[in-house]
Amino acid sequence: MNKDSIVVVRPARSVAGSLRLPGDKSVSHRYAMLAAIAEGDTQLENFSTGADCASTLGCVRALGAEVLRTGNSVVIHGRGPKLQAPKSPLDCGNSGSTMRMLSGILAGQDFESELTGDESLSRRPMARIIAPLEMMGAKITAQKGGRPPLRVQGGNLKAIRYNMPLASAQVKSCLLFAGLFASGETSVIEPVRTRDHSELALRAFGAPLTQAGLETRMAGGQKLRGIEAAIPGDISSAAFFLCAAGVFPGAQLVIEDLLMNPTRARLLDILILMGVGISVTQLEEQHGELRGTVKVEGRALKGITIAGADTAALIDEIPVLAAIAPYTEDGIEIRDARELRVKESDRIAAIATNLRAMGAQVEEREDGFKIPGKQKLRGADVDSLGDHRIAMAFAVAALHAEGETQIRGAEAAVISYPGFFDALEGIAQR
Ligand code: S3P
Repeated sequence: MNKDSIVVVRPARSVAGSLRLPGDKSVSHRYAMLAAIAEGDTQLENFSTGADCASTLGCVRALGAEVLRTGNSVVIHGRGPKLQAPKSPLDCGNSGSTMRMLSGILAGQDFESELTGDESLSRRPMARIIAPLEMMGAKITAQKGGRPPLRVQGGNLKAIRYNMPLASAQVKSCLLFAGLFASGETSVIEPVRTRDHSELALRAFGAPLTQAGLETRMAGGQKLRGIEAAIPGDISSAAFFLCAAGVFPGAQLVIEDLLMNPTRARLLDILILMGVGISVTQLEEQHGELRGTVKVEGRALKGITIAGADTAALIDEIPVLAAIAPYTEDGIEIRDARELRVKESDRIAAIATNLRAMGAQVEEREDGFKIPGKQKLRGADVDSLGDHRIAMAFAVAALHAEGETQIRGAEAAVISYPGFFDALEGIAQR
């Protein structure tokens, strides 16, 4: 799809079928980054097909790691802890995960590197990693307001004990990755628990760490070794299909080999609380990451209020929950979600504008919104604002609307799931 592509989504009668999804984006980023600084080869199956993870592969290649990609299989020949100085700026594309987590590794290198990104990434806040990395001894320059591009001069890091002021798995991961290169023991304390893929991945690559409550501690100077892994399907991509099935009473959908990490699977509990029928079978584990087969059965949906730790746990799934909120009995209220304003777009504004374009009533707040239930939406012109999760969320809303919906900037879906619109068409019953 080209820039400013329009995809038309027609209403569906129901949703049915069975899917397998490309590998989880969060896990793919971490495995690729740690593979680059590990000794030996890492062999990854079902690597994310998203453009964000391709940005990470491009960066680690530019830092001297050999990367061989055949379809969704990726082999990375690790360089060990010392990377090669890049010849040009490292292009992180649209990927905040790439820029924030890779900065932790670059802070441990004794060369200077520059990280750049697209227009959306160039607006995103980086002070949250700059402050703690500087405390560890890195020198980082950014644009006004702590925005990218970033210049990172690394080397000679010392461990810190850091009380994180905000809930962010990217910041936590950045600091743990930097901690690998620091003298002493790095400790990160989170305000609420966020996704723990970095902790699991560090252990899998051979760097043990200890966790007690919200604190994670890890000794510096540990050597990593490459792993073999098959990455489970992306649960944040699955969210669009789970919600699409959830709103059609009687709809039945199966998603096989899906990531079931408890720090990522809160959506399943929320959908169950809303009345959706969900069962999980064939649970398996590799490198600490759970996977399973999820069966969903749509039912009449109750409403829900999401706040506090739940908001943090569901941060990437809120756009699609908002998209189905008008179709619930009692609506959905989201609180404590200020972070949504600094994602790939201002997601609170994007959700409110697009839902209103479809005829819905929405109460927008600084840190969330309230969307009443029992509303009928009509197909309309909506805009992704260049944000993959907004494009996909409104495709889901469109399935239950009256009349066609045109999604402008639909190509944004490639950021996390290039096959999204085909997969959605594949399960829509008409
Ligand atoms: C991610 C963490 C979250 C999430 C993002 C991926 C990760 O961001 O929104 O899509 O893989 O660690 P924050 O760390 O900014 O909360």
